[in-house]
Amino acid sequence: MPPTLPPGGGPRIGMRTQTRPEYREPVTPQTAQPQQTVSRVAHTAGLAPAELAAARALMDLAFEGDFSDEDWDHGLGGMHALVHDARGELLGHGSVVQRRVLHNGRSLRVGYVEGVAVRPDRQRQGIGGQVMTALEGIIERAYDLGALSPSAEGEGLYRAHGWVTWTGSVGTLGPDGVQHLPDEDPPMLRGADLDPAHPFLIDWRDGDVY
Ligand SMILES: CC(C)(COP(=O)(O)OP(=O)(O)OC[C@H]1O[C@@H](n2cnc3c(N)ncnc32)[C@H](O)[C@@H]1OP(=O)(O)O)[C@@H](O)C(=O)NCCC(=O)NCCS
Repeated sequence: MPPTLPPGGGPRIGMRTQTRPEYREPVTPQTAQPQQTVSRVAHTAGLAPAELAAARALMDLAFEGDFSDEDWDHGLGGMHALVHDARGELLGHGSVVQRRVLHNGRSLRVGYVEGVAVRPDRQRQGIGGQVMTALEGIIERAYDLGALSPSAEGEGLYRAHGWVTWTGSVGTLGPDGVQHLPDEDPPMLRGADLDPAHPFLIDWRDGDVY
């Protein structure tokens, strides 16, 4: 079989003429085999209302009704990772939004992960891992570090992906200034080299701050 050309077609003047035998066409809804999944990354603004509605419905299914509109709102305005089956049914979702964290005299740009969920009948098949790999790539390229607030179920997935639990204190910078939150479950972080002697103070928001 002849080697596949990269996107954009064949050789052009001034470009290397050697083809890249390792190149594989991405799986799309048109080319997916029945058992294959199709991954997509898009900003909230690039998703159709029906796609957002499908992701919102997946939250209700995966969190068994324990996912509020405020929780959903927390995951909007950033990048979404979506995994569909070959028929276009949504199997997995997660998003990453920008937040600010004051830490040790610095304001860090944090990619905060929200709304990670996989359809219950398709869990433990690597789909959550696909979602996280996509979000982690975004975090590595666009943010100082990643942070998230894990559910009991999610913690195993995140730990398997190298996320670690923050061992220092946490708080928020809210309408009344710095507020320490000693009873808050600590977030998990990735790609961070922070000093647990200094608190992790995240920006304020409606609903759960973490
Ligand atoms: C958490 C969740 C997203 C995981 O998705 P998933 O598709 O089942 O995860 P994967 O199959 O990609 O798991 C990859 C690895 O992560 C770890 N992992 C995933 N779920 C785990 C769990 N419940 N307990 C322990 N480890 C887990 C395992 O190491 C797993 O590899 P393995 O199956 O070979 O052992 C899914 O269980 C879910 O939607 N739960 C309900 C909603 C929820 O709690 N979301 C997280 C919010 S923070």
